[in-house]
Amino acid sequence: MELRLITEVADLEGKTVIVRASCNVPLVDGEVRNSFRLKRALPTLTYLREKGARTIIISHIGRNLDETLKPVYEELNQTLPLMWGGIITDSAFLGIKEQMKNGDIVFCENLRQDKREEENDAAYVALIAQYGDIFVNDAFAEAHREHASTFGLASVLPTYAGITLNEEVTELQKVMEPLHPSLFLLGGAKFETKMPLVEKYLDLYDHVFVGGALTNDVLKARGFEVGTSLVSDVSLEHAAFLWSEKLLIPIDVIVDGPDGVLTKAVDAVTKDEKILDMGPETVLMLSRFIAPAKTILWNGPFGNYEAGFVDSTEAVARIISESDGFCVLGGGDTVAAVEKLGLNEKFGFISIGGGSMLTFLEHGSTKVLDTLKK
Ligand code: 3PG
Repeated sequence: MELRLITEVADLEGKTVIVRASCNVPLVDGEVRNSFRLKRALPTLTYLREKGARTIIISHIGRNLDETLKPVYEELNQTLPLMWGGIITDSAFLGIKEQMKNGDIVFCENLRQDKREEENDAAYVALIAQYGDIFVNDAFAEAHREHASTFGLASVLPTYAGITLNEEVTELQKVMEPLHPSLFLLGGAKFETKMPLVEKYLDLYDHVFVGGALTNDVLKARGFEVGTSLVSDVSLEHAAFLWSEKLLIPIDVIVDGPDGVLTKAVDAVTKDEKILDMGPETVLMLSRFIAPAKTILWNGPFGNYEAGFVDSTEAVARIISESDGFCVLGGGDTVAAVEKLGLNEKFGFISIGGGSMLTFLEHGSTKVLDTLKK
């Protein structure tokens, strides 16, 4: 898939470019906890500034109408000089737009404060589009959302892919044609949304390891006790892959129950215990698959990250960082683990996508990415 790139546009001097960036970063006490996505927004923004374009950044954060991007603006402003634009559809924005000089960058408020953003409302799209000569989509993390700022604008303005979005597509396409031996590591939860992906990668890859809460669904379908563990809304009992030799699952788990936090074999979990992570035997088993792998694809943590069960995810990150294979990684918590350990440079490619990465891997494109195709 080849995309139309903003770097192929000849004269950007003085043009107003609306850039949809992925600024949906985790905030703690009003401060940015992880700025990985912001760093990845820089190449396109810096490029446009150097070319003398007038850039308007639009983005979203969270899922509530009252969430603000102000802390994200403040964080990014430390690296790149920005102006605060407020709500792009407010009448006051016109004044800000008129003050812009070549090379300036204005950062606008959370689009999801207006429900018309998610509805891809045509009038809302037109209100935003009136300010731009060109639309650049650099928001790979939202490439699976057909919203006004990701999808609607592409139908009314000349539209190009940003540098980071194009890099995402290029790198993810590589792992869709893996070198062998290949290993797909899938964590997190919600088998109902990940089922087709598992099926597809059991065909494409030599092994698919299913960790995180997804493990519980496989164990349950295989007749094991999973106690009070998180399970999906879908049953795997009749899944053709349930007993596939290519499907790997944990052999030991960390449980919390009446006897406290314990490490147990997967067949020893009791009714009143909850699986919260995978155990050290499983990490050891995985290291034997990671060592020879030429392609490793990883999305999603293996333990309940929010509850502090980070050990297996971090252990696997360390093992992959020492391996020779090309590893592509994605998903907020997985990326946070690798960043925390300072191992970023040891990975082949780290995606800013979570859900969008999985959607792309499943379908090879999305409706939003289709708007950027050459
Ligand atoms: C993400 O973090 O996965 C993207 O920013 C999309 O966010 P959303 O799931 O709230 O649409």
